[in-house]
Amino acid sequence: MTIKNVIASAPGRVNLIGEHTDYNGGYVLPMAIPQRTTVSLKILAGKQVRLRSRNMPEPAAAFNYELGCEARAGSWGDYIQGVTRLLAGEGHALQGFEAHISSDIPVGSGLSSSAALEVSTMRALREAFGLALDDLTIARLGQRVENEFVGAHVGIMDQMASSLANNSEALFIDTLDLSYKSVRLPDDVDLVVVNSGVSHSNSNGDYNTRRSECEQACKILGVKLLREIAYGELSRIEALPEPLSRRARHVVTENERVLQAVHAISKGDLQGLGKLFYQSHQSMRDDYAVSVPEIDLLVELAMAEPGVYGARLTGGGFGGSIVLLARLGAGARIAEKIADAYAKKVPYKPTILVKGKGELNATESH
Ligand code: GLA
Repeated sequence: MTIKNVIASAPGRVNLIGEHTDYNGGYVLPMAIPQRTTVSLKILAGKQVRLRSRNMPEPAAAFNYELGCEARAGSWGDYIQGVTRLLAGEGHALQGFEAHISSDIPVGSGLSSSAALEVSTMRALREAFGLALDDLTIARLGQRVENEFVGAHVGIMDQMASSLANNSEALFIDTLDLSYKSVRLPDDVDLVVVNSGVSHSNSNGDYNTRRSECEQACKILGVKLLREIAYGELSRIEALPEPLSRRARHVVTENERVLQAVHAISKGDLQGLGKLFYQSHQSMRDDYAVSVPEIDLLVELAMAEPGVYGARLTGGGFGGSIVLLARLGAGARIAEKIADAYAKKVPYKPTILVKGKGELNATESH
């Protein structure tokens, strides 16, 4: 049965800890953020797909194509072309449609605007055409859109977070077998997310370079995934040539930090959790080399605030956002203070996306 008009949405995500571990078969701990992408879809006769984005300036706001003729164009429309191409390849029957897309997840903020676009589109198509797709299948297809159509060799964290997580609990995912469980943050903490305004993209070379460095490390070590190297076997990676040794060290130690973070959360140990955030940031900056000076500045500003437990770069890196944990009730003030100090020092405009645990803040600019 087909339905004529549908509206569906999906959230962005912030990763609490576990960065660049997902394509290495490791652990991640994302949660959804209040910001979402919404797709409002109307079925059309024939095979034409007409897309409009409320977030893009003209003429880039419009993107049209025909089902069956999807071709990468280097535009935001590629995420939707990838979705329809893959769904058809999986035997799902589609027909033409018009879709209006709007989002309050800033593009390039490291908060998964592309995963939210893929997941919200698939949710809308699922409802419009009665497709048999469960939430995990949607996440897997979203990752394939990135890998096979867009050319970003990402892992599955963002799509699983967008499809399965909510913004009151974190989602602990073991990307080796895609098992997951909800992890509730302690009540006495504020979660803050600040976008640096330095834009990043997963489909540019840097992200894919890191992934291939991990693959090279695996080849030399004779393993399929870096997950196979236990924390207690760190000495094995010391034999690798640089920079592979440092890259592998980040992945192996970050996996351990995720497990420790889940443990700290279960004990309500916010000091311990915060320390893991700082260690994760340091590892991403020094070993994995995915931070930038502006992100380091935000983390340093956070570190200087007495009410902050810990802060780190979240997401793929090379720009994007930081996530920080602050004393309950102090998050909003700290976020403003850090954003103001940052804006005075660099030519980028910071944005506070989240400034309290589970708080539904609208995006606001400085
Ligand atoms: C991006 C990718 C994810 C993950 C993170 C880094 O967000 O889409 O799969 O690799 O970077 O943790």
